[in-house]
Parts: sequence; C-alpha cells; structure tokens
Amino acid sequence: MNNLKDKLTHPVFAIVLQCADELNVPAYVIGGWVRDLLLGRPSKDIDIVAIGSGIELAKLVSKKLGGGHKVNIYKNFGTAQIVYGDYDIEFVGGRKESYQFESRKPSVENGTLEDDQNRRDLTINALAISLCKGDYGTLLDPFNGIDDMKLGIIRTPLNPDITFSDDPLRMMRAIRFAAQLNYTIAAEPLAGIVTNKERIGIISKERISDELNKIMLAPVPSVGFKLLFDTGLLHLIFPQMVLLYGVETIDGKSHKDNFYHTLQVLDNICKNTENLWLRWAALLHDIAKPQTKRFEPTHGWTFHGHEDKGSRMVPKIFAELKLPLNEKMKYVQKLVLLHLRPIVLAKSEVTDSAVRRLLFEAGDDIDDLMCLCEADITSKNEYKVQKYLKNFELVRHKLKEIEEKDNMRNWQPPISGEDIMKAFNVPAGKEVGLIKNAIREAILDGIIKNDVQEATQFMITKGKELGLRYVG
Ligand code: CTP
Repeated sequence: MNNLKDKLTHPVFAIVLQCADELNVPAYVIGGWVRDLLLGRPSKDIDIVAIGSGIELAKLVSKKLGGGHKVNIYKNFGTAQIVYGDYDIEFVGGRKESYQFESRKPSVENGTLEDDQNRRDLTINALAISLCKGDYGTLLDPFNGIDDMKLGIIRTPLNPDITFSDDPLRMMRAIRFAAQLNYTIAAEPLAGIVTNKERIGIISKERISDELNKIMLAPVPSVGFKLLFDTGLLHLIFPQMVLLYGVETIDGKSHKDNFYHTLQVLDNICKNTENLWLRWAALLHDIAKPQTKRFEPTHGWTFHGHEDKGSRMVPKIFAELKLPLNEKMKYVQKLVLLHLRPIVLAKSEVTDSAVRRLLFEAGDDIDDLMCLCEADITSKNEYKVQKYLKNFELVRHKLKEIEEKDNMRNWQPPISGEDIMKAFNVPAGKEVGLIKNAIREAILDGIIKNDVQEATQFMITKGKELGLRYVG
C-alpha cells in the first residue's frame, strides 16, 4: 500500500519526476486526485505541489511534454496550469497559510510539504504521493487519512476550530464528503461545525450552492441534509427548509414531519434519477406546507394550496441560493405546482379528460412528474403504498393510451388566435382570448374533438354569444 508507483500511470508523473530532479525541487501529487485514486473514483484534476516554485516546475514540464501543451500562469496566486487532454494539471508551491478573521483570503508563505498538508481541509484530502527520485510513489499520510477511509470517518488534520474557521466552506465540504461517501463525521469536527457555523456568512452563495448541489447529487442526500440540520448550518443557508421540521398535535391529531418526509421523498427519487433539477423538485415539493398549514376540526390538518404557493416560492429560493433563474427553475416550479395531480387522479376515477388535461399541462415533463409522485408515497402502511402504486400504474397506462390517441404532449389547439381574429375580423383583444381558451377547454374536457372542423363550429357559436359576426 505504501508504494503506489504502479498506480502513477498518467504520463505526466514520469515527466514531473525528471523535471523535479533537474530543478532539484521536490514534487508531490496531493489532495483530491490521491483520495480518488485510493477510493477507485476516476479523477481528471491532478494537483502537484512543489517545494519551491510550482511555476518553474510547470514551465519545464510543459516544455518536456511538447505537443503544444502550453502552461497558463496565474502569477498572483503562484499557480500554473497545464491542460493535457481532458486532464487539468495544476502546479503550486508548498504553502503555509494563515487566514484573517473577516476574510477567506489567506496570507501565504512558502512552506514544506508538511505545512502544506497541515493546511488542508480533511485527513482524506491531505494525502500525498512522492514524485521525487529517491522515493517515487511513496504515500505520505501524516494524519492517518488511509485509516479514516477504511473506517469511513471524516476528520480534519488540525484542530477543527482552526481548519473550519480558516475557511468556513470546509464545513460544507466535510458534510458533502460524508454524503458522497456515506462516511461519519467524527465527534470533534462535528462539534467544530456547530461552534463555527456562523462563519459560513463570509462564504459566497455560489460556493455554498455548489456544495449543496453536490449533496443533492449524492446517492443518499438525506445524509447531508440531516447533518446540515443537526449542526445548525441549514438554518443559516436555507431557512425555508428548516420550517418543514416538526409535528403539531391538536385534539390528538398530528400531521407528519414534513422535513423528514421531504428527505425521504428526495432519497426515493434519487434511486430513479440523476437529474439534479428533478431532485430539487423533490426537495421543494412541499416547501409551502408550513405557510398553508391549518387545523380544521372536521378534517384535521390540511395544507390547501401548498403546491401553488410552493411553486410561487421557488424563484425567491433559487435567487437566494444563486441557483439558475432560467428554464431549470421553471421546470422545478412546474413540477412543484403539478405534484398532486397524478395523486388526485390515482385516488379518483381516472377519466380521459383529466388525463388529457394533465398531459397538456405537464407536456414533456410528464414522466418526471410521475417519477416525483411515486417518490412522494412514503406511507408506513404497506397496504396503502401498494394501493397507490397500483393506481399509479393505472394512471401511467391511461397516460400512454391517451397520448397515443390524442398526442397531447406539446399540443396546440387546432385554431390559433390569428385564425379567430380573421374569422370575426377583429383585432387582438379580450374576446379573442376568451374564445381561444374556450376552444382549448372544450377539447381538453372532451366536449368537442381535437380537429379543425369541430373547433371551427365551436368558435362560431362562442363568437355569436359574444356578439361577434363570423366573416369566414
Ligand atoms: N482544499 C482545502 N480546502 C478547501 C478546498 C480544497 O483544503 N476549501 C484542498 C483539499 O486538499 C482538496 C484540494 O484542496 O483535496 C483540491 O480541492 P478541490 O479541487 O476543490 O476539491 P477536491 O478535494 O479535489 O474534490 P472535488 O473536486 O470533489 O471538489
């Protein structure tokens, strides 16, 4: 295990070995690439630390690599980068950093390999492999990162208060790695997150969301969200989600804890999709339950309109988290808005017109919507779960049948607004909108067929009712 030279198969390593020797500058591959090598996760980012000038080493490496592998130099940061195929190879001099309290910009001094390993976030991210002549391939693991990997434990190299206070994003990273790898955060760093959580305030929203998205994409994201909640970080970065937590009881009637329900729905959907935005829809599907919660003595707890209010909350949440305010957001809004519709269908008699209407509203997102609804079944009563799943099967069957018959996805009514304006020789206005909606509703409800002839007849009748004269 201690000599890994057979694993250093990428051609750049042999060249770094030569150049480091020539320049008399010890060099090591360090951090995420080493971690991922040992975990068997392929990685395209190679970080090389030089005990001396990383930039000089990179220049020589690029020369020897030939083939137009030019080096990009970032003098201000003392780093250099070579892009080699789809590999991103970064060179930096060993550092010893100390951070200012109000900023995450460190003041940097040159340092030894040990200094450089000390300043890293987690023991599993502080591993290095020598690229030096005497001990090429030797693993350097001063903080027992390998043991932590074997045990599945997240720890910091130094006192967690120092590591987290130096760079508070590391609290999110610790939780993200715990979620990605299904590791446990040791008691000390966990307490360190609780102590230092307010420091997250100096980190940009974009970087926080990057980590949140990585948690969302983990195999079981609830691992990360429970840690965020338990440490108090979630209260600071995503307070709307914390409001879902808790159970209220009136007259002996309780509602379910919507925080844990949401996490279960999220974990459920992750078994069936890698789509980040579908996962976000699962996370946000009940987000307005706290705001719409009522106790009605006859019915118990209700959350009327939570799908509509939730959908309207999405833009603000996306803006606050600096998530994209584009069609991804609209997709999430749409799924939140429609998330109850298949359930209503499954509970009642499945009529053609209800299915047609749902197909029309969901369009190409209908399969994702069904995926969300199936994930939303979290009852502990197995009989109920089976019953709903069976009903969903029926809904899916009906969807397919109606889709084949009526082709309602991306459907446009057979008569456009312009057709209506021409038919009655009127300008665009309220009447045109009324007639257009009436035609669409009549087709969706199955009152008239989805064809031009029936729609034209219907348009003429509607126009007459509104006092318009048909001119053909
Ligand atoms: N690092 C750190 N503190 C941070 C970010 C990074 O100490 N806030 C160190 C870690 O040693 C990390 C290395 O820099 O392994 C490279 O960081 P980066 O490329 O951002 O992340 P990776 O650990 O490679 O993982 P991922 O690509 O999954 O983010």
